[in-house]
Order: sequence, then structure tokens, then C-alpha cells
Amino acid sequence: MQAMLRNRILLSIVLLLIQYWSTAAQTSISTDHSALLALKSHITNDPQNMILTKWSTPSSICNWIGVTCGARHLRVTALNLSYMDVTGTIPPELGNLSFLVELHFRNNSFHGTIPQELSRLRRLKILNFGFNNFKGTIPSWLGAVSKLQIVSLYGNQFSGLIPTNIFNLSAMQQIDLRFNDLSGSIPREIGNLTMLKSIGLDSNNLKEFPNEIGTLDQLEEISVQDNALEGHLPGAIFNMSSLTALALTGNSLNGRLPDNICQHLPSIQKLYLSHNQFVGPLPSKLWQCKELAALSWGYNNFSGSIPKNIGNLTQIKYIHLGYNNLTGTIPNEIGDLPKLEF
Ligand SMILES: *[C@@H]1O[C@H](CO)[C@@H](O)[C@H](O)[C@H]1NC(C)=O
Ligand SMILES: *[C@@H]1O[C@H](CO)[C@@H](O)[C@H](O)[C@H]1NC(C)=O
Ligand SMILES: *[C@@H]1O[C@H](CO)[C@@H](O)[C@H](O)[C@H]1NC(C)=O
Ligand SMILES: *[C@@H]1O[C@H](CO)[C@@H](O)[C@H](O)[C@H]1NC(C)=O
Ligand SMILES: *[C@@H]1O[C@H](CO)[C@@H](O)[C@H](O)[C@H]1NC(C)=O
Ligand SMILES: *[C@@H]1O[C@H](CO)[C@@H](O)[C@H](O)[C@H]1NC(C)=O
Ligand SMILES: *[C@@H]1O[C@H](CO)[C@@H](O)[C@H](O)[C@H]1NC(C)=O
Ligand SMILES: *[C@@H]1O[C@H](CO)[C@@H](O)[C@H](O)[C@H]1NC(C)=O
Ligand SMILES: *[C@@H]1O[C@H](CO)[C@@H](O)[C@H](O)[C@H]1NC(C)=O
Repeated sequence: MQAMLRNRILLSIVLLLIQYWSTAAQTSISTDHSALLALKSHITNDPQNMILTKWSTPSSICNWIGVTCGARHLRVTALNLSYMDVTGTIPPELGNLSFLVELHFRNNSFHGTIPQELSRLRRLKILNFGFNNFKGTIPSWLGAVSKLQIVSLYGNQFSGLIPTNIFNLSAMQQIDLRFNDLSGSIPREIGNLTMLKSIGLDSNNLKEFPNEIGTLDQLEEISVQDNALEGHLPGAIFNMSSLTALALTGNSLNGRLPDNICQHLPSIQKLYLSHNQFVGPLPSKLWQCKELAALSWGYNNFSGSIPKNIGNLTQIKYIHLGYNNLTGTIPNEIGDLPKLEF
């Protein structure tokens, strides 16, 4: 009886090993080779002749332009077709590049949808599809690419809601979805991205800002300019000690700013709140934001007088308070400094 059990255990170990070897054999450099050929066959225009003529045998795929292989196993670890000016679609075979860590396709004319097979890229850390012509909703299967750290889908035509699944990614550090057509509110599940350092959502149609963002204690940059944010800002946003930039220009935010706005924003350098509907007096203790370099609060309805001690913000390089209902002047030592470009 015991011998039989032992044999059974041995048998299952052998079966497991066979399974392991056969998956290892299934994906090899030749898998990568056919995945790249599939990609090449989906390129319809290549004005700089980067791929259609240069991606060809007999040279090893590791020497093809834009392709990087790992030194040890000679499998494709990075693919960089950025700025090649190519037009095409993404074939499902790209999901077979199982050693891929970085995928950079920015500033091209890739279009269509992103195939779900890319969810099999379990080593992928960086996905950059910025400035292309992708359409449809942001793929929710991104939430299964568990090592992702940087996701850049800016400058496409993604529409609909931001899928909450993408907030399942615990390693995520940077999300850039600017210049799309996203709507709805920023999901509260964003509070799950504890490693998040920056989020860019400019130029969409997003309406609401969740309080949960305040729990992200690594977050340095929040940029949600030119959207449809309305109502009051969640108080938690003025309680983020890691925050260096808060850019919310061009929304319909209203209400007063807390008078002690700087007390819990010790690292803030850029505060862009212009073109909103903020009211009430300017916070009286702005001098407590010791790192503040740029303050852009014009085109609101702030009232009252400009606090005198705004003059002792030693790092300030740009300040704009015009088109409000303020009295008093900005002390000369600030007004004369050159403007920053944004
Ligand atoms: C990708 O290629 C472009 C164009 O050659 C280059 O400017 C860029 O630095 C590359 N990016 C990475 C991450 O290697
Ligand atoms: C690669 O991917 C395609 C489509 O997802 C699939 O049909 C094919 O069998 C895969 N495997 C290899 C080894 O190319
Ligand atoms: C990238 O694409 C954007 C949008 O089309 C364009 O404004 C920008 O100049 C491009 N950058 C380069 C280096 O081609
Ligand atoms: C969330 O992540 C886990 C572990 O990485 C994964 O198994 C699961 O499929 C993911 N869920 C979604 C909805 O993507
Ligand atoms: C967010 O985290 C909570 C608690 O860990 C978990 O229950 C929930 O499923 C997560 N949501 C997403 C979208 O990952
Ligand atoms: C501010 O943060 C502290 C500590 O991180 C927390 O105890 C407090 O409740 C927060 N206050 C608000 C208004 O979110
Ligand atoms: C600005 O606020 C004042 C009240 O403080 C109000 O009377 C006025 O109509 C507002 N102006 C605009 C342009 O919203
Ligand atoms: C700035 O002005 C305030 C109020 O006048 C003062 O309390 C503070 O010490 C000053 N800070 C610096 C760095 O001079
Ligand atoms: C400026 O503020 C005063 C006093 O609060 C108010 O009566 C007036 O309507 C405001 N002007 C504008 C243009 O909002």
C-alpha cells in the first residue's frame, strides 16, 4: 500500500517535470522570432525603413533594431520602436515574448485595440504606448500583468471608464493616461496602489476625485488638468507629505482652500489651481510651504488681500494670481522673477 503511494507520488513528480520541460521548450528564441515576424507582418507603413527591410534573417533577432535580448538566455527582454513613425496593429503573438520586461512603442501610428494576449507578459514592467491611435476602453486585463510598474497610454483615443482592475497592480509606480477621452470618476480603488509615485490624467473628461488618494504615501505628482472635476477637493489631498506637484488647472472645482493648506504639504513645489471656481481668501500661511516654486492660481474668484508674507517664499520662481478679486500686490521680489514654462 505504502509502496503504491510512493510510486504515485514519484509518478506525479515526473509528470510535473515533463510538463515544466515542455513549457520551457515551447517558448524559445524561435517563439520570439515568430512573434517579431508576426509584428513585422502587421506593419503597414514604415517610412524610415526601420523594420520592414531591417528586420530580416539571417542576422539574429537580438541584432534587429529596437530589440534587446538578455545576455544569458538570449530571449527578447525589451522592444523599443518609439519614434519610428510606423503604422500598424499589434498581433496577439506579441504575448508570446515571455521574457519581455519593457515595451516602448511611443510616437507611432499603431491603431486598433491592444490584444488580450499581452496579459501573458508576466515579466513586463514597463508598457509605453503613448502617442498612438489606439481606441476602445483601457484593457482591464492589465490588472493581471502583475509586475507592471509604469503604464503610459497617453495621447490615444481611449474612452469610457478607467477600469478598476488596473488598481490591482501592487508594484505600480507611474500611470500616465493624459490626452484621451476617459470619463466617469477616478475610481476609489486607486487607494490600493501603495507604490504609486505619479499619476497623469490631464485632458480627459473625469468628474470626481476620490478621498482615497490621500492614503497614498509615496505619491509625488498628481496632474488632472483640463478635465471636468467639480465640487470641493477632498480634504485628504492637503494631507500628503510626499506630494511635490498638484496640478488641477482647468476644472470646475469650487469652495475655499483650507487656511492651513501648507501645514501638511511640506514637500509641495508646484500648486496649479488656475481656471477653476475657488472662492474665499488666500490661505494666510502660504509661507509655510517652504519648497514652493510655482503658484498658479489665476482665473478663480479668490477675494480679500494678498498676504504680505508671501514675499518670504524663498524658492518661488513663478507666481500668478491674476483674474481674481484680490486687493494688494505681489511683493516685488517675486513679481520680477522670470516665468517658468509649463
Ligand atoms: C527608445 O528609442 C528611442 C529612439 O531611438 C530613444 O530615444 C529612447 O531613449 C529609447 N528608449 C528606451 C527606454 O530605451
Ligand atoms: C504564439 O501566439 C499565437 C497567438 O496568440 C499562438 O497561436 C501560437 O501558438 C503561440 N505560440 C508560438 C510558439 O508561436
Ligand atoms: C510625439 O507625438 C506628439 C503628438 O503627436 C507630438 O506633439 C510630438 O512632437 C511627437 N514627438 C516626437 C519627438 O516626435
Ligand atoms: C489581481 O492580481 C492577482 C495577483 O497578481 C491576479 O491573480 C488576478 O488575476 C488579478 N485580478 C484581476 C481582476 O486582474
Ligand atoms: C483593493 O484592496 C482591497 C483590500 O486589500 C481588496 O479587497 C480589493 O479587491 C482591491 N481592489 C482592487 C481593484 O484591486
Ligand atoms: C492626515 O494624515 C494623518 C497621518 O497620516 C492622519 O492621522 C489624519 O487623519 C489625516 N487627516 C485628514 C484630514 O485626512
Ligand atoms: C465671486 O464671489 C463673490 C462673492 O464672494 C460673488 O458675489 C461673485 O458673483 C463671484 N464672481 C464670479 C465671477 O463668480
Ligand atoms: C515668513 O513670514 C512669517 C509671517 O510674517 C514669519 O512668521 C516667518 O517666520 C517667515 N519665514 C521666514 C522663512 O522668514
Ligand atoms: C469681488 O468681491 C466683492 C466682495 O466680496 C463682491 O461684492 C464683488 O461682486 C466681487 N467681484 C467680482 C467681479 O466677483
